[in-house]
Amino acid sequence: MENNQPSSFFIQTFGCQMNERDSETIAGMLAERGFTTAKTKKDADIVILNTCSVRENADKRFFGILGQLKKIKEERPSFVVAVCGCMMQQQHIIDTLKSKYPWVDLVFGTHNIHAFPQLIEGVLAERKKIVDVWEEAGAVVEGLPAKRLYPFKAFVNIMYGCNNFCTYCIVPYTRGRERSRRPEEIISEVEQLVAAGVKEVTLLGQNVNSYGVSSHGSDYCAPKENGMDFAGLIYALNEVDGLERIRFMTSHPKDLSDHLIQAFRDCDKLCKHIHLPVQSGSTNLLKKMNRNYTKEQYLHLIEKLRKAVPDIAITTDIIVGFPGETEEDFSETLDLVQTAQFDSAFTFLYSIRKGTPAANLTDQISESVKHERFNRLVELMNGITAQINKSYEKTVQKVLVEGTSKTDKTTYTGRTDSLKIVNFKGNSALIGEIVEVKITEGKTFSLTGEVIS
Ligand code: 5AD
Ligand code: SF4
Repeated sequence: MENNQPSSFFIQTFGCQMNERDSETIAGMLAERGFTTAKTKKDADIVILNTCSVRENADKRFFGILGQLKKIKEERPSFVVAVCGCMMQQQHIIDTLKSKYPWVDLVFGTHNIHAFPQLIEGVLAERKKIVDVWEEAGAVVEGLPAKRLYPFKAFVNIMYGCNNFCTYCIVPYTRGRERSRRPEEIISEVEQLVAAGVKEVTLLGQNVNSYGVSSHGSDYCAPKENGMDFAGLIYALNEVDGLERIRFMTSHPKDLSDHLIQAFRDCDKLCKHIHLPVQSGSTNLLKKMNRNYTKEQYLHLIEKLRKAVPDIAITTDIIVGFPGETEEDFSETLDLVQTAQFDSAFTFLYSIRKGTPAANLTDQISESVKHERFNRLVELMNGITAQINKSYEKTVQKVLVEGTSKTDKTTYTGRTDSLKIVNFKGNSALIGEIVEVKITEGKTFSLTGEVIS
């Protein structure tokens, strides 16, 4: 880039792995055009905020950061601000941006990331403001570049969107209907990643269990006979030479097939961990959430998984304080947590997402009741997590070393097959390697160990 041309960018990503993966694509597109990454927003010529609608107070944080960026723009008019991601798929956000933040240079959504190079070109070359958000997704676009965060592990999208419409959730509105990538595209991407040194892939989808089930436009839909469903895809990826670990996120309990449970037994590369959001232990609330399973069906599923794979780690998501949640409903959740013995849980206070059916329910729970229940749930969950982690003591675990600890540069950190964080003393040569670690201590949020290989 010439001196007077913008040449560096900074992307701030909020929310889930889907967004992280999208940011890698945006970074890849900029890197392909000669842009480099800046260390901070202030140092950058272009700042991109990739937003999330799921996390609490996402709007407040987002508009707060925009306020800070406005100051930079006032000092340096050539500074470019682009915003994208799930929040942009909500009309009320676009309206606020247009009325209160008209100085934002580029607004695009989750469905037209592939068009980002043309959009940013329009902004840079013509110095015009662009708002281009597609209401609906087109066909899956393949072959986009990516600047990956890690050389040894990678996220791989296998499908986009969600058809489930859980009544609390905004995702079906911001990410559109389910579209699956073709298996050959996924396998070829994984082969290329492995050739470049990747050992672990995490397959991403809002509900990976319905991979290949629903089609949209020209995207992949498994033929009825011998089609490649999600488990079939895992079997195929298990054959990729040089790949060592396969993970996936996220599974909906209603669609978890026996075929997938079998894959856990047959596929040596498939990590023995499943994230299986339950959301609530009350069948009554599960119905109101439109989850399509009962407490008993969920527990039965866990039983089947543990019978097939005795040492499988199971993690979950739980929402506390969904509208109408009674003390009985909540005690059903505590009971389920106790019975299921989750390895860990992400716990969320229910909060209203504009435009979802649950936002209109009149029996919203008070903040104080929500917090009080939340604390009880976290206490129970932490006790179970600590106990399970303690049972790892004296075992030897295979750990993919990811880097140094944030607080201590001589301590290295990585994850077991079961996704537990392990801290140990090591050296930089171990980063990206899978090493054997003897666990010396199991704590609530991590394990400590010593490298033995
Ligand atoms: N309130 C609280 N938690 C929510 N989640 C999704 N929507 C909401 C909401 N409105 C949680 C669910 C989901 C996780 C990613 O976020 O538990 O599984
Ligand atoms: Fe949201 Fe439910 Fe779809 Fe998950 S399955 S993304 S919670 S609608």
